[in-house]
Amino acid sequence: MTDDPRIESFRFPPDFLWGAATSAHQVEGDNTNNDWWAWEQAGRVATPSGLAADHYRRFREDFDLAHELRHNAHRFSVEWSRIEPEEGRFCDEALAHYGEVIHALVERRIEPIVTLLHFTLPQWLSAQGGWECERFEMLFERFVRRVVTEYGARVRWWITINEPVVQLFKGYVIGQWPPGKQDHATAFRVLARMLRTHARAYRAIHELYPRAKVGLAKHGIASSPCNPDSWFDRMSVRVREYIFNDVFLDAIHRGSLLIPGVMWERLPAAHTLDFVGLNYYTRDFVKNTGFDVPGLIGNMCSLETYQHVAKRNDLGWEIYPEGFGHFLRRFARHGLPVLVTENGTAARDDSNRHTFLLLHLWELMRASAEGIPVLGYLHWSLLDNFEWADGYRAKFGLIEVDMKTQERRVRESGRWLGEVIRRRGLCCLLYTSPSPRD
Ligand code: GCO
Repeated sequence: MTDDPRIESFRFPPDFLWGAATSAHQVEGDNTNNDWWAWEQAGRVATPSGLAADHYRRFREDFDLAHELRHNAHRFSVEWSRIEPEEGRFCDEALAHYGEVIHALVERRIEPIVTLLHFTLPQWLSAQGGWECERFEMLFERFVRRVVTEYGARVRWWITINEPVVQLFKGYVIGQWPPGKQDHATAFRVLARMLRTHARAYRAIHELYPRAKVGLAKHGIASSPCNPDSWFDRMSVRVREYIFNDVFLDAIHRGSLLIPGVMWERLPAAHTLDFVGLNYYTRDFVKNTGFDVPGLIGNMCSLETYQHVAKRNDLGWEIYPEGFGHFLRRFARHGLPVLVTENGTAARDDSNRHTFLLLHLWELMRASAEGIPVLGYLHWSLLDNFEWADGYRAKFGLIEVDMKTQERRVRESGRWLGEVIRRRGLCCLLYTSPSPRD
């Protein structure tokens, strides 16, 4: 690993953004007014979010810890259902709250990076069909204008939508997330709406604050065939990679949405990104199951059969750092800088998080040393939190949260990352591991 001295001595630039990411519903607690809350109350998840990490009240304490860990940036989301609890009525108290959150970050010299939509929709909107509602773009733009008018003087970095394709897949293809549908035709219509929604939000933000930096957080998921000798599996890998990883960014790049054999639509989305946000976690193994759309997308096969998959996290996801390097290079081909908006692992045993960090930061350094323009690295996540359908069993935090007492404890991997930030690279840290306390 250390045979390339250029990488070992590489230093990230002084203005590199270092920090972590969270999302409102996963950490705030008591987000009672959105579609996920309703989904949880209907018994569709193992554990409901409840008080989560009580971050709505404890954000100052949490940002003190982030500051102690030398973070200079923090990504969080504003909760639409709090800010606009009824259609057209904006809540001053919620607006004041996020104003305080931003103030608390700025005060600690932590750059706020604000996600405008991280999966959850207000219940009044899901009652009108959510993403299927014809007025979605207009309603979201109105919300965005309100938020950006309020905070734009202090916030430079904006993320319009978090992982649109993941939301689409889970909500409209496999039906595991709200609205729980399995309907491809609707999924493709919603995909086009997501692109239009992003484009309108991008333009609205720039109209209000021309110097703003606006991007979206795009998931990159590596894939390999279940059976490398199967032409069908290899084809499904290509289809999946196109739909999961490329279609959204390509559509923005080209200004039209193209899914061969399914749809083509011109969209007013060209040139609506200032940077690309990359969320990277793992690799899937893909098995073809037929020639219709779901069959071409294929299914995942169980990793148990794969001897060469050496390491998995607590959710069974393969640790595959090469994929991270791959997506840093791939997303940069759009000619835009890349911001790592999420990268992390579910690990009860903190030494696994340390190994994960080491391997992924190495890939980040290699790509940066090669000249890939990377703006920053935001680890998922600052705190242990509500992992959607998986509830609380997944521990993603640099900071451990006892969900019963709400007590916080910084993990050694979090301190180790703080040391990387201080040294602006991995120099001299390659052989040091945090002292295991977990
Ligand atoms: C996503 C989201 C996060 C997740 C994280 C871990 O990727 O689904 O952006 O909300 O919690 O990715 O799965």
